[in-house]
Amino acid sequence: MDGHGRTLLLLQIFFCFFVFASTDETKQDCSQVQCPGPLTYYDDVGCTPVYKNKGDCCACKYNCDHLNARSRNKCYVRRNSYEFGERLRPEDKNPCNVGCFCKNGTNSGRFVCAIVDCYHGPIDTGCYMKRNISQCCPGPLTCPKNESEIPKCVVDGVTYKDGEFFIPKNEPRKRCTCREGYTGQNIKPFCITPSTTCSTDLYHSQDIAKKCIPIYYADQNPATNCSSSWRCQNANDTVIPNPSGSPSCGEDCPGKKDMTCKFGNLTMNLGDELNQGTDYTSVCVRCVCEVPPTPTCRRLSDCNLTAGRN
Ligand SMILES: *[C@@H]1O[C@H](CO)[C@@H](O)[C@H](O)[C@H]1NC(C)=O
Ligand SMILES: *[C@@H]1O[C@H](CO)[C@@H](O)[C@H](O)[C@H]1NC(C)=O
Ligand SMILES: *[C@@H]1O[C@H](CO)[C@@H](O)[C@H](O)[C@H]1NC(C)=O
Ligand SMILES: *[C@@H]1O[C@H](CO)[C@@H](O)[C@H](O)[C@H]1NC(C)=O
Ligand SMILES: *[C@@H]1O[C@H](CO)[C@@H](O)[C@H](O)[C@H]1NC(C)=O
Ligand SMILES: *[C@@H]1O[C@H](CO)[C@@H](O)[C@H](O)[C@H]1NC(C)=O
Ligand SMILES: *[C@@H]1O[C@H](CO)[C@@H](O)[C@H](O)[C@H]1NC(C)=O
Repeated sequence: MDGHGRTLLLLQIFFCFFVFASTDETKQDCSQVQCPGPLTYYDDVGCTPVYKNKGDCCACKYNCDHLNARSRNKCYVRRNSYEFGERLRPEDKNPCNVGCFCKNGTNSGRFVCAIVDCYHGPIDTGCYMKRNISQCCPGPLTCPKNESEIPKCVVDGVTYKDGEFFIPKNEPRKRCTCREGYTGQNIKPFCITPSTTCSTDLYHSQDIAKKCIPIYYADQNPATNCSSSWRCQNANDTVIPNPSGSPSCGEDCPGKKDMTCKFGNLTMNLGDELNQGTDYTSVCVRCVCEVPPTPTCRRLSDCNLTAGRN
């Protein structure tokens, strides 16, 4: 091997050791850590994290094997299955998932839900909507006699008024509203933890079945935000072997025998990317196999929409 290859190997050893050493500390606070990978997606569809070391914040891969065992004659929410015609059960429901039932779709089962319209008339000045976080729509209309009667909540340095929605910084899966009696505890009746963050299984069963990938905006955090769109494989998609040449540390991940990502019928190794611009969903979108088995796709912020074809 030439000098370049040796440097890369040394770098890789150093990098992996560094990651190992830095995650080996005792009891770290993982709430502020930004982990790589399409984590809202994994969490939503019920994949289970696999950690390199006990106590790690970030998973090195996820086990999503249950997705491969899904039948096209059923619907699914995480690991729960539904027959055609069956209604969405309460444990899989978020407040705005109304009237959902499982139906035979084109290539797989899919859920159909009612469209919720939270329209309300104009709100008079001095009035506001109270809100029960366990219900989809805000209300009832409240008109306090005196502004100073409105309950307030201070969360992560921000003051919210009664009825206002917030997501606690350290608990991004929770959904909360300010209401009387809030003392900083993110529990019921102030907060709920919805069964899924993005209802991915309800609205994207066919994308999941076709091994399409969620795409996140440049300013989104794939660990807490819902994807904006999906990329599905077409005949012009190809895998570019590790173009950035960055070392990957998946070798000591438990179950390392499968550290590949899947996209349609393509297989990617760690660090591999997909080519861009093969259709309108993949223009200026960088997809990298980072935390298997689903590549992380992000829209590039400084990208020329007319460029990007290769
Ligand atoms: C679902 O629909 C497909 C065709 O769209 C059909 O072949 C299949 O038998 C249907 N499955 C059931 C359980 O009705
Ligand atoms: C909020 O809504 C839930 C679900 O509809 C209900 O069970 C609960 O009593 C409501 N809480 C309040 C304080 O209105
Ligand atoms: C609002 O309530 C505060 C405290 O109870 C009181 O000091 C103030 O005078 C009230 N203002 C009005 C306009 O009634
Ligand atoms: C991302 O999520 C955060 C909190 O979880 C939210 O405040 C923000 O609006 C979201 N951003 C986008 C672009 O979806
Ligand atoms: C893989 O998928 C592409 C695009 O859907 C298709 O054109 C191709 O025939 C498939 N290849 C195999 C081996 O299934
Ligand atoms: C693949 O690329 C060729 C040449 O640019 C184009 O004619 C064809 O429509 C593309 N196919 C798909 C599925 O996008
Ligand atoms: C984007 O592409 C157009 C046409 O090729 C070019 O004129 C323009 O300078 C490019 N902009 C950037 C920011 O690269």
